[in-house]
Amino acid sequence: MSVGKRGALFVFEGCDRCGKTTQSRLLAEFLKSKGIPTLSMNFPERESSTGQVINSYLTNSNDLPDEVIHLMFSANRWEYMNKIRKELLAGTTLIVDRYSYSGVAYTAAKGLDFDWCYAPERGLIKPDAVFYLKTASDNLLSRGKYGEERYEKLEFQQKVAEVFNRICEQESSYWHQIDANQSVAEIHTQISGIAEKLQQQVDGQPLNKLA
Ligand code: TMP
Repeated sequence: MSVGKRGALFVFEGCDRCGKTTQSRLLAEFLKSKGIPTLSMNFPERESSTGQVINSYLTNSNDLPDEVIHLMFSANRWEYMNKIRKELLAGTTLIVDRYSYSGVAYTAAKGLDFDWCYAPERGLIKPDAVFYLKTASDNLLSRGKYGEERYEKLEFQQKVAEVFNRICEQESSYWHQIDANQSVAEIHTQISGIAEKLQQQVDGQPLNKLA
């Protein structure tokens, strides 16, 4: 089934402090400057009911079994699926800072089974592109404010990076690996070029699901 003019779903992924937030903002500003209706979101969305539990977990004020917090992160995305679908079909492009792949990468990095981690993500809307900001782990520590939240430890981030690299290989048809050690401007030029081209191609394309 084809649809009319729809927005694109662009996702940013990468380890903590890799520059995703800056690049998401720059891409949103770029698309808006081209007259494209654009909305920014991020996961976890900390305001919702699941989001508040996730926030207190991340700031180390409550502990939960790994399986439970994993399913909470996934439920947090499912809470927003109707909104995301509605916005995309109304022609709004969404720029999302973290998505299912962070869910898989952070939990699999703890040693849980990769397929188990991916299962609750099946059925969520599939992004049109994922921009993976790949950072050499030696550079992670030099990035500001590193170390305040639960997962911000170098050894753990290295494991997360390994899972992201695996997903990047598996999903190479729509994942774009970007060298995060370039300048902010260079990274933005690369990403905005890809996004602008894809933006024109999604017209009439149905929304796909993560399978
Ligand atoms: P943030 O710093 O981008 O707000 O993300 C908060 C932390 O939550 C970050 O360390 C990555 C982690 N995370 C997961 O463990 N699972 C998920 O599904 C998501 C979206 C983030």
